[in-house]
Amino acid sequence: MKDSLFIKAAFSQPHERPPVWMMRQAGRFMKEYWDIKNKHSFLEMCKTPELAADVTMLPVDLLDIDAAILFSDILVTGEAMGGDLSFTQGIGPRFANPVRTAADIERLDTDVVHKLQYVADAIKVIQQRLNGKIPLIGFAGAPFTVMSYLVEGGSSKDFKRTKLLMHNEPELAHALLAKIAKVTAGYLNLQIEAGVNAVQIFDSWAMALAWDDYKEFSHRYITEIISNLNRKDIPVISFCKGSSVFAPLMAEAKPDVISIDWNVDLLDMKQRLPAHIAVQGNLDPHILYADKKVIKERIHRLFERMRGQDGYIFNLGHGIMPDIPFDNVKYAVEVIKEFKY
Ligand code: CP3
Repeated sequence: MKDSLFIKAAFSQPHERPPVWMMRQAGRFMKEYWDIKNKHSFLEMCKTPELAADVTMLPVDLLDIDAAILFSDILVTGEAMGGDLSFTQGIGPRFANPVRTAADIERLDTDVVHKLQYVADAIKVIQQRLNGKIPLIGFAGAPFTVMSYLVEGGSSKDFKRTKLLMHNEPELAHALLAKIAKVTAGYLNLQIEAGVNAVQIFDSWAMALAWDDYKEFSHRYITEIISNLNRKDIPVISFCKGSSVFAPLMAEAKPDVISIDWNVDLLDMKQRLPAHIAVQGNLDPHILYADKKVIKERIHRLFERMRGQDGYIFNLGHGIMPDIPFDNVKYAVEVIKEFKY
């Protein structure tokens, strides 16, 4: 796998062209996803290795991307710790027993990695199907983002309860974050042991945090997780919305790759980071709603800017939206692969 485009780019080694994969590539913008989803609940899909493998393989077979991402969710760690998790169409994730008091935090279990064995089983099935064709990316949620779902009980616009916990009862927030970080490191090591070729840590909602709070309540725990990984030759990708601001700090946690949102010029950001850190990004996912002419122009613009850079992986600044036309995504992958880098 070390000779694949994706792994070479992730380790900032010379590569012929930027590899392409897209966050949320295994999802709702594909008709074939709905064919499976209409027969099974989302969590059932995550927990049944054959189904998780079926969905993981959809973008591999239909889009011919350069890396696969495990089909699962960042909230399975919260569920394993004792969260009563459900996903409802149109509402999203919900924890029916939010974690808000010292007693709630105390009750959360950290000896839980064995409960996530279904993920390791899925990884083994996926690797059989991939048969060495392209690398498989495993992933987990970062402690701050997972904490926000546990505390709010679901998605939130303003993270009011989470921030109140951090600001009024920081020792409780730290107790909760430390528990999540411990489980997350064990969980990523389980995935590495099961055979993933890279891991990505998703801190989707970091952009809600002030600089000092990001440092204290997020960065610190991501650093701890990365330092506890049995990495061998497995690249670590650090993603957050807000990386256009936080990337120089994210680099201090020692990932191999930082996934950059679309608010910043990618080359500028790459040059502000240590040379051995690769970047991933950073097309605004909304471009994929636009006309094909625009899609092509914007990809070319990004690639002209990044020309000659080792350590560049194409991705969106965040995930594909469910109503983006499949055809446009397929077209984008073709444009990327044809570009003379
Ligand atoms: O990238 C991939 O294709 C792999 C699979 C994947 C899913 N979730 C599948 C999913 C990954 C990497 C995730 C990560 C995830 N989950 C994040 C971080 C990434 C990001 O986008 O910021 C977050 C914040 C979650 C939490 C979550 N899961 C939400 C908020 C939702 C529902 C709302 C929504 O519109 O995204 C989910 C459900 C979910 N996770 C679906 C999928 C395919 C949709 C389930 C369905 O079919 O209803």
